Amino acid sequence: APTLRNLMPANVRIGAAVDGRLYAADARYRDTLTSDFNAVTPENALKWPILQPEPGRYDWTASDELIELARANGQAVYGHTLVWHSSVPSWVSESWSRERLRSVLREHVQTTVTRYRGKIWAWDVVNEVLAEDGKLRDSIWLRGLGPTYIADAFRWAHEADPDARLFINDYGVEGRSRKADGLFKLVRELRAQGVPVHGVGFQAHLRAGTAPNDATGNLRRFAALGVSVAITELDVRIALPVSTEKLLDQALLYQHMLRACLAVPTCESFTVWGFTDASSWITSHYPGYGAACLYDSDMKPKPARDALLHELRTR
Ligand code: G3I
Repeated sequence: APTLRNLMPANVRIGAAVDGRLYAADARYRDTLTSDFNAVTPENALKWPILQPEPGRYDWTASDELIELARANGQAVYGHTLVWHSSVPSWVSESWSRERLRSVLREHVQTTVTRYRGKIWAWDVVNEVLAEDGKLRDSIWLRGLGPTYIADAFRWAHEADPDARLFINDYGVEGRSRKADGLFKLVRELRAQGVPVHGVGFQAHLRAGTAPNDATGNLRRFAALGVSVAITELDVRIALPVSTEKLLDQALLYQHMLRACLAVPTCESFTVWGFTDASSWITSHYPGYGAACLYDSDMKPKPARDALLHELRTR
């Protein structure tokens, strides 16, 4: 039977966020993951608090294992994420001096990117740095280091692996919005300053029955800046209970986002944030919502997966 992986155009990766423990231990999870996807994004394993639970003590166990499994199954690895305000080890203190904060951030970026040089094709260098109004989000990094932390992070990552594609990633920017306008301005400025920003990641945590405002046009304007684009964390949550109609709305939105990606020549990857309702983050983070993925909790394909297959077959 055709799979997403087989039907995807060769120049676009199809990925899923994954839990390394399930990948290693659950055969049904692994089989679906490897037949439909040629790329993975570690859902949590590369986050800073996991990599460096204590100052100076790194723990690469989970990330090494996941990356090795991906390699063994011919899957590219998308690195998520180096700098994220909501994923900072508890031992990093806001009361530290600017110099100390900057050097700990630099060390984290350089060490992590260097370790996986040649094994991770792209990195979310900075994640969610914008506020809803399109200005830079208040965070430990903005307060402690000022806006230049963004350019610095890209430069450090680029030095550590000159071949890795470096992305800026955010949510709520899939369609035209104030936040998307702010992101557009920021990327244009960074590029004008020669900062090595190679791509823009659009997370796309969406809700069935809605649609981003002109996703295709929005992706195209970013591409026109000379950067790649990627759908990095797509899921489409449903207000429970699930119904046939809601599953169809969900399917249409998945298909719509794939079509938007494929309409842009520099869309390099299309990634879903979990592929099965059995282990999606939605249930624990969005009370009243669920069933956001391509496969149900029994690992049966849902209409959304059929819609993606259909889109790929008929284009
Ligand atoms: O692994 C521990 C487990 O041992 C423990 O018993 C349990 C109790 O809380 O926690 C488990 O860790 C949780 C982890 O997910 C694995 O399930 C963390 O508490 C929880 O905070 C973590 O949530 C993740 C969240 O990011 C925060 O890092 C979600 O899985 C992950 O899907 C979510 O992903 C984010 C992206 O990184 C950025 N964009 C938005 C996206 C969705 O929120």
